[in-house]
Amino acid sequence: MAKPQKNFVCSDCGAVSAKWSGRCDGCGAWNTIVEEKPLSQSGPASKTLGGMRGKEVVLSDLSTKEPPPPRTACGIGEFDRVLGGGLVPASAILVGGDPGIGKSTLLLQAAARFAMAGLKVIYVSGEEAAAQVRMRAQRLGLDKAPVKLAAETNLRDILTTLEKEAPDLVVIDSIQTMWADNVESAPGSVSQVRAAAHELVTFAKTRGCSVVLVGHVTKEGQLAGPRVVEHMVDTVLYFEGERGHQFRLLRAVKNRFGPAHEIGVFEMTGDGLSEVANPSALFLSERDQPAPGSVVFAGIEGTRPVLVEFQALVAPSPHAQARRTVVGWDGGRLAMILAVLESRCGIPFAGLDVYLNVAGGMKVSEPAADLAVAAALLSAREDAALPKDCVVFGELSLSGALRPVGQMENRLKEAQKLGFSSAIAPAHSKAGNDSGMMLRQMSDLTGFVGEVFGAG
Ligand code: TYD
Ligand code: MG
Repeated sequence: MAKPQKNFVCSDCGAVSAKWSGRCDGCGAWNTIVEEKPLSQSGPASKTLGGMRGKEVVLSDLSTKEPPPPRTACGIGEFDRVLGGGLVPASAILVGGDPGIGKSTLLLQAAARFAMAGLKVIYVSGEEAAAQVRMRAQRLGLDKAPVKLAAETNLRDILTTLEKEAPDLVVIDSIQTMWADNVESAPGSVSQVRAAAHELVTFAKTRGCSVVLVGHVTKEGQLAGPRVVEHMVDTVLYFEGERGHQFRLLRAVKNRFGPAHEIGVFEMTGDGLSEVANPSALFLSERDQPAPGSVVFAGIEGTRPVLVEFQALVAPSPHAQARRTVVGWDGGRLAMILAVLESRCGIPFAGLDVYLNVAGGMKVSEPAADLAVAAALLSAREDAALPKDCVVFGELSLSGALRPVGQMENRLKEAQKLGFSSAIAPAHSKAGNDSGMMLRQMSDLTGFVGEVFGAG
């Protein structure tokens, strides 16, 4: 007799493997592989589909006379923009984030505003009692909003209620607490989370009701992470922020109805999350004097230009192996830039500790920040500050050449708006410059080092 088949699933990314291991081959996370019950035997039939004929599917062409779906804006501008300009009917949205970052707060605020905008909204909390949610709403001054509330985790009961109520928007907080009684594993396991998400997304698509799923990012393998449902939903938003900082970023990772990589910036205050209208001013720390190691990068997040400050510190290392510490940027990319500086410009960093920090708790992933990082490192190493009114951007190739980056005009305009007057940028950038900024364009890093720091 064949042994019952075992099934191991990564609770972080959902990768399936035949045996247990300490590290997931799919995403590289440690200690996230858990055993799952194999899929039920009543799954797909073993016989092939051939033989019997199905009915013909109606095919149509791409042209349509239907107007685009009406979007509903909730009035929280940062939230609407991240959604791509408002909520699309029958869409499924996943909001992921660390526990305690403010997901419930954000969604309660958004749900209340959508309800006030005329949508029929149901907020299902599987984590907090209804009284707790009510207390929070009262604290946020939203207790008058016509949001219907339920504290429930049984998916069958929830779906029955939703079918009867036919709402326009349902918030499920959180997907990890939901359980479907036709799946045998514990709530929060990969198969439960998948089954619950599948049911809710199907409900959204068939009934024309938008569904927002909240998912906790988990560090350990016992709870499935939000990544296991990313592929099922239309829009994936991550709510992130540094623990010690007040501000929070809502980032669109995937969006079928709008631009991905769009960010919304919020500040956590005593009365909930408030929008930050001018994030550039927030991410620039107090800059009165030009400081060595500090360089302002004119970046683009989604469709919006944002200025951020890179801070570097370079100091002789007391250790045999010098430290490389990065906050808010990619450590691998820092190593690459140090290597380019060493081998193309002959500026050694061996025996020096290097610390790089993005001010204000922002995370930057654009390659266009390469030149700003190189400038910050050099400025710290040479103890020479860049002019206070100067922004920097440009991508670095391994040869030391500077590659042009997109949206130069938007970057320059934002910098000019915030009081900067000059910019260092790669040569050959296509866009023009009508922002009135003084532009210094360079084609490689050696030229940059020579011109800005006066030495090769
Ligand atoms: P919460 O929305 O419960 O986080 P999540 O749902 O992501 O787990 O937010 C919890 C944190 O937010 C908590 O530490 C308290 C803080 N907070 C405020 O600072 N101000 C507020 O008005 C509210 C409601 C919460
Ligand atoms: Mg919560």
